[in-house]
Formats: sequence, C-alpha cells, structure tokens
Amino acid sequence: MTRIVCLCNLVDKKEIETTLKKGAASTNEIQRLTRAGTSCGRCLPEIDRIVQDFTKEKPEEQQKKLNFGF
Ligand code: FES
Repeated sequence: MTRIVCLCNLVDKKEIETTLKKGAASTNEIQRLTRAGTSCGRCLPEIDRIVQDFTKEKPEEQQKKLNFGF
C-alpha cells in the first residue's frame, strides 16, 4: 500500500492510479469506483491533482477506456 490519500475510506494513491489506468477519467468516477472522497471530502483536492496529473501524462490511456459495466 502506498501513501493513503483518503483517510476516511483508506484509499491509497496506487488504488486511485490503478482505477485511472482501468479507464476512470474524473474525480467523480474515482469517488464512485473507490469511495475515496465520499466522506469528509478533505482529500478531494488531492484526488483532483492525481486525476489531472494522470490525464496530462497519459492521454493515450484515456482513449483505452474499459467498460466497468455500470
Ligand atoms: S479523507 Fe477522503 S473523504 Fe475524508
């Protein structure tokens, strides 16, 4: 487990990045898929930053979206 980003729901940075690699493309989707940021909301700015960094660095990954079946 890497550094915890969301203390309320014990979600670490690696889990968020893994979810992004699977096709999540927004903070909203991260919230829905990992529960990070769904309690006190204090971690939301950091989740935003991780999402933005990932989207900036790996735009090709965003085009390979997988279907989560929701
Ligand atoms: S620290 Fe993430 S919702 Fe509280």
